[in-house]
Amino acid sequence: MSEEGMGGARGDGALVELRGVRRVFEGGQVVALDGVDLTLHRGQFVAVTGPSGSGKTTLLNLMGAMDLPDEGEVVFEGRPIDSLRAMERIRAERIGFVFQMHNLIPVLRAAENVEVPLVPRLPRAARRERARKLLGDVGLAHRADADVRGLSGGERQRVAIARALVNDPALILADEPTGNLDSRTGNEVMEVLHAARHRVGATLVLVTHNLEICEGADRHVVLHDGKIVGSP
Ligand SMILES: Nc1ncnc2c1ncn2[C@@H]1O[C@H](COP(=O)(O)OP(=O)(O)O)[C@@H](O)[C@H]1O
Ligand SMILES: [Mg+2]
Repeated sequence: MSEEGMGGARGDGALVELRGVRRVFEGGQVVALDGVDLTLHRGQFVAVTGPSGSGKTTLLNLMGAMDLPDEGEVVFEGRPIDSLRAMERIRAERIGFVFQMHNLIPVLRAAENVEVPLVPRLPRAARRERARKLLGDVGLAHRADADVRGLSGGERQRVAIARALVNDPALILADEPTGNLDSRTGNEVMEVLHAARHRVGATLVLVTHNLEICEGADRHVVLHDGKIVGSP
């Protein structure tokens, strides 16, 4: 594995590149992404908007090695995502996901949820310590042993952010993470997300309907019917 490591020959600060990406469903009846070319760089904050069904989640799934394109390629840190093995490695080591629904495991405590992505790789005491540190970073040190079913929506989303950050991802993908929160709680969650991203120097791709947030982004990608239609 002599090529193991960061960057890569095609890198130049490019973290993830989509080249001519097409993704269809229902035997080609539904075209979710239609010839998307997009290069994202390290440390960027990228906002993604577009109407429902325009391909936003499909785009994030492809960037996050959760899915493969039908045509074209996705290149991550200079290497194409072209096998299940590559997908697993990138997901486990390089990506943090934050979903609209927090997707926490209800029978686990807050800290245990944060530990989940670490499970196979670290001894128990080290996992514990790491999870507690991450919860502290999102302002939830005092809730580490809480039953997640008893947490507020904002607290759950902060646990989800801690979980997404636990492996120091290069890319954080957040799909409408404040969509189910009131605006004040949503703003708090966004602040936590930004602080977290700055701590690890990660690229953040955020699907949002909040145009104020888009104005603060380094880049604003607008999707329509599976195509990038530029920035408003
Ligand atoms: N697994 C799937 N099976 C069938 N159709 C899908 C699937 N995933 C997405 N689609 C369709 O692809 C299009 C884009 O979906 P999506 O990426 O979820 O859009 P958005 O996140 O912008 O709402 C939609 O028409 C959606 O119904
Ligand atoms: Mg979506």
